Amino acid sequence: MINREWHLLSRPVGWPKPEDFALVETPVPTPGEGQVLVRNKYLSVDPYMRGRMSAAKSYTAPFELGKVMQGGAVGEVVASNAEGIETGDHVLHFFGWREYAVMDAKHAVKVGPTAVPSVKVDADAQDVPLSAYLGVLGMTGLTAYAGLLRTASFKEGDVVFVSGAAGAVGSEVGQLAKLLGASRVIGSAGSDEKVKLLVEEYGFDAAFNYKNGPVAEQLREAAPDGIDVYFDNVGGDHLEAAIGSLNQGGRIAVCGMISVYNNTEPAPGPKNLARLIQTRGRIEGFLVGDHYDLQPEFVQKVGPWVASGELKYRETVVEGIENNLEAFLGVLRGDNIGKMIVKL
Ligand SMILES: NC(=O)c1ccc[n+]([C@@H]2O[C@H](COP(=O)([O-])OP(=O)(O)OC[C@H]3O[C@@H](n4cnc5c(N)ncnc54)[C@H](OP(=O)(O)O)[C@@H]3O)[C@@H](O)[C@H]2O)c1
Repeated sequence: MINREWHLLSRPVGWPKPEDFALVETPVPTPGEGQVLVRNKYLSVDPYMRGRMSAAKSYTAPFELGKVMQGGAVGEVVASNAEGIETGDHVLHFFGWREYAVMDAKHAVKVGPTAVPSVKVDADAQDVPLSAYLGVLGMTGLTAYAGLLRTASFKEGDVVFVSGAAGAVGSEVGQLAKLLGASRVIGSAGSDEKVKLLVEEYGFDAAFNYKNGPVAEQLREAAPDGIDVYFDNVGGDHLEAAIGSLNQGGRIAVCGMISVYNNTEPAPGPKNLARLIQTRGRIEGFLVGDHYDLQPEFVQKVGPWVASGELKYRETVVEGIENNLEAFLGVLRGDNIGKMIVKL
């Protein structure tokens, strides 16, 4: 049996190019003692993977050249030499960008009907779709929850602004803020279609297309009384605009800065940082990896909202391992609404 997997051949400079990668055929690995073999069903592609393609020092090791890349994935166990995991179980793990993965059992987390019985999505008590463990109830969902509640210290009545608002993290931040009692939620996104979705389907109070005019002006119009929380997924002029609209005691949670990930020169910083003094404002970066203690609370609280449809989510699904790279590039371009998933 043949496995196909994506290797990084060279470190991209600026926008990643197809020749920086190769889809390579290898034999399907055999699980050793205490290991399982998983046939992946859903692969995650995420903006942070751009960082791991670079050799620059960061919070996690770079992808190795000439080797298979990594990422979140959900698959079915097709062979098991490990206690407690049976053939047919579904597991969440970190060996994406490939069709088959072999791993020590400790790196595979069981998901699906038997693993999380409290999370149901519909009246027939079906469990959540497996892909949800990569998005709305997975890493990106926890990022939204931890960033909003812990880093931004969200409280009832806050006016919340989130950028990248039609994406996986952003769409959950905005809806969580509404469900938890925000007085006003404003989102920005890169197309009129996405803006319409934010207001009409996700219940944002206001939204704007950042490509239609200066962010600062559009934000002032959407939040005439200022903002208490800014959840930053984008950086650049969005961050400067948010500082400009920040109310007294405002908090900025820096989750991501996707506008700079492909830059070849350092991006200029916000020109108005002195406003943080007047407003006693706080700006703080965070990594989801530091907040996994919140995972049980997050699933318990947000799972039922997903089940009842109070918290809506979309996925953009691309089919086939051969399209894994294109799906990743699509996230950087903004092709996705909600979580970008590759279905195998
Ligand atoms: N701190 C953490 O632990 C953590 C964890 C997960 C994710 N993140 C960060 O959170 C952010 C969102 O991640 P995600 O997985 O939910 O991705 P996503 O929002 O689903 O997809 C990325 C989106 O970014 C937008 N974008 C691309 N270039 C842009 C630009 N120059 N200016 C403004 N928007 C741009 C695109 O939408 P438009 O059409 O709207 O442009 C695209 O759909 C990223 O910055 C990511 O790095 C951080």
